[in-house]
Amino acid sequence: MVELAPTLNFRDVTVRPIRLRDAREVERLLLENRGWLERWEASLPAIPGPLVTQFSVRQAIRNLLANARQGLGMPYLVEYRGRVVGQLSVSGITGGSLNSASLGYWIVEEVAGHGIIPTAVALVTDYFFLTRGLHRMEICIRPENGPSLRVVQKLAFRYEGRRYRYIHIDGDWRDHECFALVAEEVPDGVLARWQHTVNTPAD
Ligand SMILES: CC(C)(COP(=O)(O)OP(=O)(O)OC[C@H]1O[C@@H](n2cnc3c(N)ncnc32)[C@H](O)[C@@H]1OP(=O)(O)O)[C@@H](O)C(=O)NCCC(=O)NCCS
Repeated sequence: MVELAPTLNFRDVTVRPIRLRDAREVERLLLENRGWLERWEASLPAIPGPLVTQFSVRQAIRNLLANARQGLGMPYLVEYRGRVVGQLSVSGITGGSLNSASLGYWIVEEVAGHGIIPTAVALVTDYFFLTRGLHRMEICIRPENGPSLRVVQKLAFRYEGRRYRYIHIDGDWRDHECFALVAEEVPDGVLARWQHTVNTPAD
């Protein structure tokens, strides 16, 4: 099957397009990490309770792939040292005069704090800006989600403001803080800019 996007890699982190046959592994990780993830998981207003069953993970991947084939999104798995550890999805790709998209992500608790998601976000944003010609990438985060706010802080996404009751998460409509970058803010790429700040000691 033709891949919908190339696999991206930096050091121990690999970001590759998700496949239907990943459903079982993704479901296992989601179930094992319920307590870690459910507070931040998207939910559906009409359906109470968690949506994680093998059928729904398979169906969710099917929907994501159908969406990707229409050019509306791109679903990835995140691997760390060759092991699947999380998911990252580009959604809401609009072309034309807006030419923007949104990013969402999660990682298993066991490997949190290794800079894996910042690396994955940087790789995917650079690919979309430099190869796909996207103009703007957005990340929206609940104000209570300190670890995720650190991700955008590390990568210097620009704060754009709070959206009131913006996304249905963990059973209710939640406010979100929105951050974005446009391509001309990062001419050398997000990954290179972040690595430069990491490797340059502050005065
Ligand atoms: C948000 C998340 C994706 C960050 O991924 P990550 O690869 O761990 O990112 P980082 O390694 O850069 O860590 C970010 C911050 O998380 C915090 N953190 C690190 N290890 C942690 C742990 N074991 N438990 C809780 N928080 C931790 C630290 O504040 C860290 O910042 P620091 O590096 O300045 O200390 C991850 O915490 C996660 O999946 N959380 C649950 C799902 C979620 O919130 N998704 C995002 C919705 S917007």
